[in-house]
Amino acid sequence: MKIDIIAGARPNFMKIAPIIHEINKNNDLSKKKISFRLIHTGQHYDKNMSDVFFSELGIPEPDINLNVGSGSQAYQTARIMERYEKFIIEDKPDYTLVVGDVNSTLACSVTAKKLLVKVIHVEAGIRSGDLNMPEEINRMVTDSISDFYFTTSDNANDNLRKTGADESQIFFVGNTMIDTLTNQLPNVKPASFFNEFELNEKAYIVLTLHRPSNVDETENLTSLIHFIDKNSGDMKVIFPIHPRTKSNLDIDKIKFNSIKFVDPQPYRAFIHLISNSEGVITDSGGITEETTVLQIPCITLRDSTERPETVTLGTNELIGSDRDLLAENLEKIKSGNWKKGIVPKLWDGKTAQRIVKHLTTELWV
Ligand code: UD1
Repeated sequence: MKIDIIAGARPNFMKIAPIIHEINKNNDLSKKKISFRLIHTGQHYDKNMSDVFFSELGIPEPDINLNVGSGSQAYQTARIMERYEKFIIEDKPDYTLVVGDVNSTLACSVTAKKLLVKVIHVEAGIRSGDLNMPEEINRMVTDSISDFYFTTSDNANDNLRKTGADESQIFFVGNTMIDTLTNQLPNVKPASFFNEFELNEKAYIVLTLHRPSNVDETENLTSLIHFIDKNSGDMKVIFPIHPRTKSNLDIDKIKFNSIKFVDPQPYRAFIHLISNSEGVITDSGGITEETTVLQIPCITLRDSTERPETVTLGTNELIGSDRDLLAENLEKIKSGNWKKGIVPKLWDGKTAQRIVKHLTTELWV
């Protein structure tokens, strides 16, 4: 059986790593060998947005790099489609496996499906209901044409059923991102700035921001960061700054008391940073899953989430752009008065094993 595994942007790398490791394990032990091509679209290309994740997570060198780079939504999507199409025509796989919700996910699933390649979507079925986010459109389009869905939650299963998916297409397997977290927890290590900033365990906050709605307007972004700076009390706020966010801020000109800007962090340093923090403020989706499993308080600066279990079961609170709520929740973090969460079903570090089991049974061709 031949599979194309697609990865394009930072959050994809944690999701494909455990699948590749399990496929390799299967190939060592079983007669049912899965051969795969790893295709990097090049959506993220910086060393610290891409390469460092390959080396830390033990992901092999991509077989193909589409080198698309940055651009508008349409430009990036179109370029990935055009470039991936050639490789399918040259050597057609049985399946194209896509993960998550980035432009690479949409572009490769549509391209494959039109060339009659079956599509497998990992992390299928999640919905925020907010069509202003490009990721929501990517999720909807990808799921509408996928043949098989590997899902992280009952909620995702229900969303898929509502849109007409058949039970035989849905496999509730859990969360591959949590496989990576579980595998890597013994290897986490402090970033070099940890000592330099004199950070103490449970005495600092981590901030990440990259959603267009939070970062694309410089004035709004600057005022948000100033607000967090003012309301963090004597806690330091470590802000690994995403390139999209950095391009809209003049960080050398603005002065803050508590906020410390650092580069986007490698996986192990980032997990070390959040797992030792007092709390996290973010607009990411994946981080809300990690903080839920690590039981770290998390404030999400969004109005909706495609991962509702991080709020209903986990340690996440959605507060939108309400500054009063932000101040109130920061106070709760500082006073150690945060809800205790539980870990969602099947977020147990064994998801990739279940995926490979399904690949070698129901999905075997
Ligand atoms: C993308 C994903 C988002 C994911 C996020 C994680 C889509 C629609 N969005 O958003 O779901 O949560 O990645 O990071 O697919 N840039 C660099 N170096 C890089 C990559 C990007 O400097 O390695 C710059 C580019 O110049 C670009 C900006 O960052 O202008 C944004 O990159 P892009 O891939 O378009 O989207 P993200 O905002 O990263």
